[in-house]
Amino acid sequence: MMAGRQDAIRQIDGQGQDAQRQGNEMDVVIVGGGPAGYAAALYGASCGLRITVVERDKVGGTCLHRGCVPAKELLEAASVWRSVKNAGEFGVMVDGAPRMDMAAMQLRKTAVVDQLHKGLSGLIKGRHINVERGTGTLLPGRRVRVVEDGGGERVLAADHVVLATGSVTRSIPGLDIDGKIIVTSDEVLSLDYLPRTVAVVGGGAIGCEFASFFSDLGADVTVLEALPRLLAGCDEDISNALTRSFKRKGIKVHTGVQVRGHEPSSAGTTVSFGDGESVVVEMVVVAVGRRPSTDSVLGEGVDVKLDGRGFVAVNGQLQTGETGVWAIGDIVDTPQLAHVGFVEGIQVIKHILGEPALPIDYGKVPWGIYSHPEVAFTGMSEEQARDAGYEVMVRKDPFGGNSRARVLGETDGMVKVVAEASASSSAGRILGVHIVGPWATELLSPGYLAVNWEATPDDFAGLIQPHPTLSEAFGEVMISLTGRGLHIG
Ligand code: NAI
Repeated sequence: MMAGRQDAIRQIDGQGQDAQRQGNEMDVVIVGGGPAGYAAALYGASCGLRITVVERDKVGGTCLHRGCVPAKELLEAASVWRSVKNAGEFGVMVDGAPRMDMAAMQLRKTAVVDQLHKGLSGLIKGRHINVERGTGTLLPGRRVRVVEDGGGERVLAADHVVLATGSVTRSIPGLDIDGKIIVTSDEVLSLDYLPRTVAVVGGGAIGCEFASFFSDLGADVTVLEALPRLLAGCDEDISNALTRSFKRKGIKVHTGVQVRGHEPSSAGTTVSFGDGESVVVEMVVVAVGRRPSTDSVLGEGVDVKLDGRGFVAVNGQLQTGETGVWAIGDIVDTPQLAHVGFVEGIQVIKHILGEPALPIDYGKVPWGIYSHPEVAFTGMSEEQARDAGYEVMVRKDPFGGNSRARVLGETDGMVKVVAEASASSSAGRILGVHIVGPWATELLSPGYLAVNWEATPDDFAGLIQPHPTLSEAFGEVMISLTGRGLHIG
């Protein structure tokens, strides 16, 4: 027996939670092998727990097979396309017009996904995690029924069950998904042709990424968003900067509009929205949020409740109403982000082991949207901070003044920091960091640390940022928030 496993067992015993341990083959059965589920499995196995993952498809879940990874792969193809298209500006002459080969693009995407899937499968095998292929349903008494595609059935019992079945796409009345004209992210990620005209319904994370992708590749794109602005959850300056960039690309952005339905025609379909407006397009991408995937996971007689929106109800420790049953990832009402699933997986294993675990501060998780320009943020927006009663000090450094951004030719956007005002000229606690612009998702890291360590600009202002880099923008804002600016006031 591994030392780690003995430690784990001692800790479980210490919590008095091991009543059935000797009788069960497994310590933890995890239903769903997406980011939340596989993180719980890998971390749990590292702690010496005996883990089974029940997965009906492939480990990796939506993120690896139908979400984050393939989407970013396609967005990278769009980025290469932009570079080639603009190469002449850098004195790099490419003879003839560039041409998009969607089949080659899909091949590369599939290769990247397959490599990562192989790596993950190897990791799971290497940690001696048992993977059961089939659909898992929770039964009373911490048991899970597994039904294979072919009909075979077995029941697993464990000390703990973790539900991690993720989320699925959804649509709105009037837009029935047919997979051809009316599509979701699932279909877009496997497209083998480029539609000339696209309406994107929903200007959230997925909507903005796909609007950007299609527009960069030359399609005529219209975004239809019900709320007053794109990425309604992020800081208004960031959302406005993104909208300006989108409009410069030629994306038509309609906000504050409800989509009423569509009428197919030989030209594609006519989407009606707002006050009698319409647009004729070849394809409609529906990106109005995802719903928790709980359809087959809860069996008769289990004491696991769903909330009004269909999410599995959990307490602050991600525990359901049933003793020893936990829920993590997109099936609980926390940000639907792979990395939130990861941390929830780790958190639940710590709870199972009876270890101390700081609660996850969902208001301070990092967000990243991989549109062009990218968006990344953490902590409170300026509006949220003011609404929460803070007196704030705000500074922005536009990328237009950043040398590296000029070199890259990517000057749209800014770094914006919201900090608590203080009695001195230097700001207090850093409350939010918001970035729109080149490599924003990679640049967020120090901002994430600043917000989560409750640092002040003084803590950061003396640290050196290499020159010329995009990261100088964050450093500039920090210096400025001490009350003495360098390049910005
Ligand atoms: P979302 O919740 O981010 O955005 C959906 C948008 O659709 C909202 O702005 C909403 O106001 C709008 N909407 C809803 N009904 C509408 C209607 N009838 N007409 C027009 N607009 C309407 O959901 P999204 O973009 O589908 O993403 C799903 C989940 O996946 C989100 O939780 C998101 O955070 C996550 N995700 C994260 C990514 C990232 O971090 N890079 C990338 C993709 C998804």
